[in-house]
Amino acid sequence: MKQQLEEIRESAKSQLSKAASLAELDTLRVKYLGKKGELTAILKQMGKLSAEERPIIGQLANEIRADLEASIAESVEDIKQKLLEQKLKSEKIDVTLPAKKQALGHKHPLSIVLDEVKDIFFGMGFSIASGPEVEWDYYNFEALNIPENHPARDTQDTFYITEKMLLRTQTSPCQIRVMENQKPPIRIIAPGRVYRSDAVDATHSPLFHQIEGLVVDKGITMADLKGNLESFAKRLYGEQTKIRLRPHHFPFTEPSCEIDVSCFRCGGKGCPMCKGEGWIEILGAGMVHPKVLRNCGIDPDVYSGFAFGLGLERLVMFRFNIDDMRLLYENDVRFLNQF
Ligand code: PHE
Repeated sequence: MKQQLEEIRESAKSQLSKAASLAELDTLRVKYLGKKGELTAILKQMGKLSAEERPIIGQLANEIRADLEASIAESVEDIKQKLLEQKLKSEKIDVTLPAKKQALGHKHPLSIVLDEVKDIFFGMGFSIASGPEVEWDYYNFEALNIPENHPARDTQDTFYITEKMLLRTQTSPCQIRVMENQKPPIRIIAPGRVYRSDAVDATHSPLFHQIEGLVVDKGITMADLKGNLESFAKRLYGEQTKIRLRPHHFPFTEPSCEIDVSCFRCGGKGCPMCKGEGWIEILGAGMVHPKVLRNCGIDPDVYSGFAFGLGLERLVMFRFNIDDMRLLYENDVRFLNQF
């Protein structure tokens, strides 16, 4: 029996030394030391032994049990240590690796040019005004001297919320809102989104941007209009820039004009950019119609003013030589990354 016990010790130890996981160790513990384990099985046969042998074998069995328990505990520690080392190794952080670059956004081309335009007008003493994009028919048309059935409404068809409420077709309603709330002198620009029910193509979009301008004070004349807008054009396109006023019609200004700038690509000789004309139209303007002043409670015999409106998309497309307006709204990063 002594022989058997020593064999159990031997084989248990050799198996323990090979065990690679905690689960394996546990299986071995059950196999040798468990209630139905090999060691227990031997002890159950102690009854067959003589009275002299019994204590000797009993002592040996206890010693082997203690020995194996110690070995198992040792192996458990070893394996735990190994697992920890593996974990540390796999989770190691190499602080010398280059960091992941954070992609940083930047201004949209519409914002780049809008910010430039704002800066120029700030420098000329203008401040910013704003109005709602969902607007009353009254502010978008009526108060601007465009009554129902006026032909100017045809070119500015829009999206109606109700019969009297619509998406504004121009930033000009901001003029009315400012004049209703502020006494002259007035010197504002109002940039913002406007809407028309136009089909999308390379030069049309149902949503685009305008920048409105309004100056009202005593003694404002067409010379102020021309001087202010010439200064603006020179700041935007360079000192060599010339402007030209062409007669035009807007219901809310009288007289009205369109303003062209000498082509900033060819300087006026004629090129593909200006379609051989030497001039590029950039804005509409005029002296605020006396009816419009009166609609806002401002006496046209005391005050006069000029107003202008420019399309932001046009400026941006000329600035960056973009031939399709849709690119400005699609948010394709391959396009936007170029600015
Ligand atoms: N709102 C006009 C348009 O959209 C532009 C404009 C504004 C003209 C102010 C004159 C004065 O056509």
